Amino acid sequence: MRKRRIVILGSTGSIGTQTLDVVGRLNRAGHEFEVVGLAAGSNVGLLSEQIERFSPVVVSVAEEEGARALSERFPSLAVLSGRDGLERLACYPDVDLVVNALVGAIGLSPSLAALSCGRTLALANKESMVIGGELVTKLLRDKGGTILPIDSEHNAIFQSLRAGKHEEIERIIITASGGPFLNTPLEELASVSAQDALHHPNWAMGSRITIDSATMVNKAFEVIEAHHLFDVPYERIDPIVHPQSVIHSLVEYVDGSIIAELAASDMRIPIQYSLVYPQRIATDLPRLGLEELSKISFEPLDPVRYPAFVTVLAAGVRGGSAPAAVNAADEVLVKRFLRGEIGFTKIAHGLRLIFDRWEERDDTQSEKMSLARIMDIDRWAREQASAMSL
Ligand SMILES: NC(=O)c1ccc[n+]([C@@H]2O[C@H](COP(=O)([O-])OP(=O)(O)OC[C@H]3O[C@@H](n4cnc5c(N)ncnc54)[C@H](OP(=O)(O)O)[C@@H]3O)[C@@H](O)[C@H]2O)c1
Repeated sequence: MRKRRIVILGSTGSIGTQTLDVVGRLNRAGHEFEVVGLAAGSNVGLLSEQIERFSPVVVSVAEEEGARALSERFPSLAVLSGRDGLERLACYPDVDLVVNALVGAIGLSPSLAALSCGRTLALANKESMVIGGELVTKLLRDKGGTILPIDSEHNAIFQSLRAGKHEEIERIIITASGGPFLNTPLEELASVSAQDALHHPNWAMGSRITIDSATMVNKAFEVIEAHHLFDVPYERIDPIVHPQSVIHSLVEYVDGSIIAELAASDMRIPIQYSLVYPQRIATDLPRLGLEELSKISFEPLDPVRYPAFVTVLAAGVRGGSAPAAVNAADEVLVKRFLRGEIGFTKIAHGLRLIFDRWEERDDTQSEKMSLARIMDIDRWAREQASAMSL
């Protein structure tokens, strides 16, 4: 395939490092991927190693202090910082693809910047669509552009949608592993530890998404994301628990045909798909051996076991700034849980309280949605979730 110039935002994280792994593999196989820019938060050590290995011309980090350290170490490198640095990287000239692998609400503004500048966006940062879905889809409607979803479920749906037309879709079925507590007695959930929650049965991921998988906040985010990405109403997007995570998601068409994508549980497979789209390229990444699957199973998602799913999805359906409120609160509550300040079930409890408080505010309907409005609500919800005694 022809040479591709890429920028990776969040290069030091789980998706970011796996993206660089895929780039390395593709280049070793004779393809030409040039890493033009990298952005990280605070892990300047790992970013320095990546700079040495991939020789980008521009990088960005969260804080100025980190940027100064990098400038001293790499004098010929352009070093940026903060949100402005991320947005500038997202719009860097002559780039074919921007991979957004940032975690959290910070990912929204670079996604908007990349699309505004006409870049193809390979999107892992689910918060871009969860909190900014209305802004992103408006931008796509007004200016056109392409989003290639990296998240395994959305990547599976994206691939399955190549089998039919939009008006032929009956429903989208999003699979959920159920997380580590699928079979834990309900009365034990209050006392599970952060270590237990960080042990995802099928995937190795960043800490926030792993906890979000245990509460199923992640699955509610994915339903919201799918609603915006694929323009399908909420009532036609169904989650289903599928503990083996072999089928990454499915699309049912009006004629009853169901098209699914199956692969090994390895994020580098959807990452590569996004990097080389619309082609498919041979890879030595792990394969799914169908004969090894003695059994796959499905069960309905239990709202009593996963109350946070119910709250976050309700916020998505409500729209406006509600998803931004629950997303920001969730970021804070997950950190509080990981620090041992609150119990596991308090994450769902806190999210319900925040959503109720957001409903009481209900000042958003009269105002037009904007990035500033989302960031205001994000700040408000963080303060509430930090101060809340649970
Ligand atoms: N991991 C998965 O398998 C997976 C699967 C599907 C979807 N996703 C989604 O992909 C996104 C990334 O997930 P992840 O698991 O890769 O997260 P992660 O391991 O926590 O990595 C997050 C990345 O964002 C960077 N970052 C955080 N705050 C920043 C800031 N203020 N400025 C600049 N960079 C910042 C981090 O930099 P430092 O580490 O240098 O601070 C790191 O590079 C999330 O939205 C997640 O939901 C992940």
